[in-house]
Amino acid sequence: MPLATLRQVLDEAAKGGYGVGAFNVNNMEQLQGIVSGAQEVQAPVIVQASRGAIAYAGPQYLRNLVLAAVESAPEIPIVLHLDHGDKPETCFMAIDLGFTSVMMDGSLLADGKTPSDYEYNVRVTREVADAAHEKGVSVEGELGTLGGIEDGHGSGEVHLTDPDQAVDFVEQTGVDALAVAIGTSHGAYKFTQKPTGEVLAMHLIEEIHQKLPDTHMVMHGSSSVPQSLVDRINAAGGNLEATFGVPVEEIQQGIRHGVRKVNVDTDGRLAITAALRETINASPKEFDPRAFFKPAREAMKQVVMERLTQFGAAGHAGDYEVLSLDEMAKRYVGERVGV
Ligand code: G3H
Ligand code: 13P
Ligand code: ZN
Repeated sequence: MPLATLRQVLDEAAKGGYGVGAFNVNNMEQLQGIVSGAQEVQAPVIVQASRGAIAYAGPQYLRNLVLAAVESAPEIPIVLHLDHGDKPETCFMAIDLGFTSVMMDGSLLADGKTPSDYEYNVRVTREVADAAHEKGVSVEGELGTLGGIEDGHGSGEVHLTDPDQAVDFVEQTGVDALAVAIGTSHGAYKFTQKPTGEVLAMHLIEEIHQKLPDTHMVMHGSSSVPQSLVDRINAAGGNLEATFGVPVEEIQQGIRHGVRKVNVDTDGRLAITAALRETINASPKEFDPRAFFKPAREAMKQVVMERLTQFGAAGHAGDYEVLSLDEMAKRYVGERVGV
């Protein structure tokens, strides 16, 4: 079974009316937790690597770890996606490495901090989409910028996605998936109180879905930051501040209105950290690292099982045969004529 493409996996999710979790990967145990969680609930899964992850693991390790995952779990569709590509060259590097999907985040300039202008975003995203589609690789673009509405995290500037501009952006760029900014931010510190539908601007998702019913939306910053994990980390010597994430019910509402890819990194980090802290504290005589990594891997698996089930993806792994990049490339031929 080849690596799946984001486009096929999200097309299938749209048909089935569910969302697919996209979990960040940096090392073997995290990847094993993700894949075994997806296997356990028989769900397709998106494994995504940031530039930081590629630098941390090394490109060859990352690529071959994911290929090993596909080999060990041939019954589930697995996508290898570049998270937040900062410039076209990074996306091309990922494609050469074997990624089947890339995000060109042209909402920010290549420094990853400064919000860009619309023309720049269209230009770089279209450049990536044209080159990626020739090879059958899928592309995610982003319109609007993430950022904490209340706590000032992220780029520090919040630009919510404009639905009319979204229509133009999708037409101009040909992206397979569109990341929308609705008021979420990356990391553990998103909100100082439980966010309401207003704080999260869920109405934008509904509006965009009405205008672009065939476009798959992506929700970044979708960790729920469970209080139980924060409490466990702090009880085991951690010092995290009080915080609130994105309630799962809000994500489920998004899924009812066209959200198909749900990005979760922080929840996995919290689960792994809680397990590591507890195990190290509980076994002062232990010095075999496997004793610590095993519960950490299991903790990651539990998060993935829970989220894939909540997003409705459980049980859908066997719904379709994974298409190769060549087969996907043929589908794009002719699509951009006249644009
Ligand atoms: O978008 C951010 C993801 O959580 C990845 O974070 O750049 O620290 O790997 P990272
Ligand atoms: P969280 O920090 O909420 O997990 O968001 C992850 C993300 O959006 C990765 O692109
Ligand atoms: Zn993100």
